[in-house]
This record gives sequence, C-alpha cells and structure tokens, in this order.
Amino acid sequence: MRTMSTRLGLVFAGFAFLALVAAVAVAIATDTGPVAVAEGEAAEEPVAGITNVMNAVNHEEHGLFGMIKSFCDADGADKDGWALARHRAQMIAEAGNTLMGKSPPRGADDAAGLAKWKQHCANFRDAGKDLSKALAFKKADRAKAAIAAVAAQCEACHKDHRSN
Ligand code: HEC
Repeated sequence: MRTMSTRLGLVFAGFAFLALVAAVAVAIATDTGPVAVAEGEAAEEPVAGITNVMNAVNHEEHGLFGMIKSFCDADGADKDGWALARHRAQMIAEAGNTLMGKSPPRGADDAAGLAKWKQHCANFRDAGKDLSKALAFKKADRAKAAIAAVAAQCEACHKDHRSN
C-alpha cells in the first residue's frame, strides 16, 4: 500500500512539475514586453516639436544657444569650455534639420510658404554649422560674430512663421 501511494505521489509530482514547465513556457512565449519593442521603428518617430526645440535648444537664456552666448560673453574665460560650446553648436545646427520636417503655425499653408519655411530651416542649420566652425578658433570676437549671424536667422524665421 505504501509503495502504491508513493508511486501515486511521484506521478502527481511529475504532473505538477510538467504543468509548471508548461505555464512558464506559455508565459515566456506570450511576454511581448520590453524585448518586443522595435527600437529602430520607435527611433524614427519624431519626438520633439517646434516649441521643444525653441526652449531646449534655441532659447537665448537657458537653451543651448543661450549657454554658448553666455560662455562667449564671458570671453571664453573657462578654457575647457570651447569644446562643449562646439558640441552645443552642432546640436543647434541639427535642430535646423529637425525643424525642417515640421509645419509652423503660420505662413506655410501652401507650397510656396512651405518652401520658405524649409529655406529658413536650412539657413538656420548653416548658421549653426558656421558657429561651430567659428568656436574652433577659440576667439570670443569671432564666435560673437557667428552668434549674431545665428540670431539674425531666429528673427528672419519668426517674422514669417511665428504666431505669438
Ligand atoms: C526655422 C524657423 C525658426 C528659427 C530659425 C527659430 N525659430 Fe523660434 N520659433 C519658430 C516658430 C514657428 C515658433 C512658434 C512655435 C509655436 O508656437 O508653435 C517659435 C517660437 C519661439 C519661442 C517661443 C517658444 C514657446 O514656448 O512658445 C522662442 C523663445 C524662440 N522661438 C526662440 C528662438 C531663438 C532664440 C532662435 C534662434 C537661436 C529661434 N527661435 C530660431 C521658428 C523658428
């Protein structure tokens, strides 16, 4: 009798084990959580909008542009700051590319308006690239001239496309 119940116990334990294995297998197979998120696809979706770019990148005080400005207004006193200023200028130029794919709230309703917007974005990007190159000389005066050229592009675009 005892052997019988021991066997039954073993069989039962065996089934329980198999059931557990099956449950884990199903859980793994149906878990499409973090692993299934296609990073490539997600990365191609634009995340930042125009006002994100304006506040985080372009803002004259707390954007990357403002940081470069105050660095140069202090005549590049922090000698190690030039390289960081260039990284920031590169991202300002990249913001021109980002803006290119957006539609502004004003002045781009037809093909001609949209072409104008894209031209402003391209000019801004090029001014950002020029700023990056100017910063490579580590001369505050030269950098300040390039900063003024970027600021002129801010105004030119706002004149045509900013609503507020
Ligand atoms: C290619 C066009 C373009 C360029 C270049 C540009 N802006 Fe703008 N900016 C806009 C538009 C369009 C808006 C309005 C966005 C909206 O309200 O939807 C705007 C809005 C802003 C705002 C208000 C953001 C808010 O939160 O409402 C600030 C600040 C700003 N820009 C600063 C700048 C500065 C500084 C520069 C240059 C370093 C610059 N922008 C360059 C198009 C541009």
